[in-house]
Amino acid sequence: MQRRTVFLAIGLLLVLFAAEGHPTEAQGSSVSFAKDVMPILQKNCQACHRAGEIAPMSFETYENTRPYARAIKAAIQSRKMPPWFADPQHGRFANDRSLTAAEIETLSRWADDGAPLGDPRDAPAPIRWPEGWQIAPDHVVTAPAQTIPAEGTIEWGYLLVPSGFTKDTWVSSIEVRPSSRAAVHHVVVMVRPHSSDVPANVVLWEQKQRDAKGTAPGQAFSSASRASRILGASGESVNRSAVDGPVAGVYVPGVPPQDYRTHGAAILVRANSDLVLQVHYQTIGKPVSEVTRVGFTIAKEAPARQFVTIVRQPASISDPKIFRIPAGDPNWPSPPLEAVFNADAELVWMMPHMHARGKDMTYRLTYPDGRTETILHVPRYDFNWQLGYDVAEPIKVPKGTRLRVDAHFDNSAAKRGNPDPTVDVYAGTQTWEEMMNPWFGVIVDSRLDVRTLVTTTAVQGGA
Ligand code: HEC
Repeated sequence: MQRRTVFLAIGLLLVLFAAEGHPTEAQGSSVSFAKDVMPILQKNCQACHRAGEIAPMSFETYENTRPYARAIKAAIQSRKMPPWFADPQHGRFANDRSLTAAEIETLSRWADDGAPLGDPRDAPAPIRWPEGWQIAPDHVVTAPAQTIPAEGTIEWGYLLVPSGFTKDTWVSSIEVRPSSRAAVHHVVVMVRPHSSDVPANVVLWEQKQRDAKGTAPGQAFSSASRASRILGASGESVNRSAVDGPVAGVYVPGVPPQDYRTHGAAILVRANSDLVLQVHYQTIGKPVSEVTRVGFTIAKEAPARQFVTIVRQPASISDPKIFRIPAGDPNWPSPPLEAVFNADAELVWMMPHMHARGKDMTYRLTYPDGRTETILHVPRYDFNWQLGYDVAEPIKVPKGTRLRVDAHFDNSAAKRGNPDPTVDVYAGTQTWEEMMNPWFGVIVDSRLDVRTLVTTTAVQGGA
């Protein structure tokens, strides 16, 4: 994965940069690593900056952190770190790791003063981060190993594996663990009743006709297009609806496990259900053997409330006459997603998803009494960060409430990471194509049939 190389390069640069700076111990400085800096790093940085996590360097010890003192100052002053993109004007979020002005000041002064350790006895106890599984699963499903080739375009695939649940089970958290994070772009786990029309344990691949530039206009999503089919191992095509089901779990780098316990909720997995893993692999220059595992914790008793993960997209997304982002356009407005809630719910989570040209996304609710509220505004979307936003206070969504999500795309040369500003861009599954996928998570009565919860004008992949 290219990002790995970028990480390494950044790491090297920082080491060189720090070494050249010769920080010296400041006399009598009141800001010390042990007393002032460590608590901030624990609270706001170590979720990613620790051994085995997604950031390229660990901030768990003084020795590891000190070389980065000046880089830390630069990254927090520019607000590049910690990554957080929600406009503070709208909504409050439980997983907001942004620093306060006072914390930025503390870390910056520490760097300016020569990054002193201070008295190690002042330091808080190290956090014991869980190793391996984050959720301590009661039940683990291991998918058969898949070989990911060294190069080429890999379309999305669908891998059906038996869930192993022999009776109806309320699942209280789900964690998806790829064995090779670099080669796995994402995994979405769906649950569906067992059926014998889809072969288990083999990947069914989407089939598309791509031109020399890799585009496939009009073949955005299989369900909406004849040109794009899903092929079984023996070459016969399988109906897309045979591999769709409600979304239960999702893996993208940096997104934590789906833990419904925080909401006193769970999801029901029926006896003998199958799991469908929608897999998007990416090449990293050498072949990789990937074994994806899905872990579950099980609720002791049936909960009063269930969690529902929903992803919908605008009705016209697969129509290349409508969803066409013109070459060079710096601010193309997407057709909005519009949805209506058919039952009372509480909205607890949102995750905007677009690709490299995604610019901004706004979620708005219009309540039955006509009141309108912006619940999330991400003014500068960054494809490198697939952040979910956990709302601090669940948002009450009465039956009849409308959700509208608007987004803009930037297909100009000025957009960082734009793969090619000279081509028109259509909806599609590859990173050089585009998506307009607002995800959201809601809690409803556990007796509700979730298929009827939200009506939109079109559905892809989700509940
Ligand atoms: C959600 C995960 C996450 C959190 C939280 C986070 N970082 Fe990072 N950080 C990363 C990743 C990944 C990189 C490397 C890729 C990049 O720079 O985009 C990085 C890079 C950096 C760099 C390298 C310089 C640079 O500009 O790229 C610094 C310095 C840094 N982080 C400091 C911090 C500090 C200080 C905090 C806490 C106040 C923090 N980070 C919180 C994930 C995180």
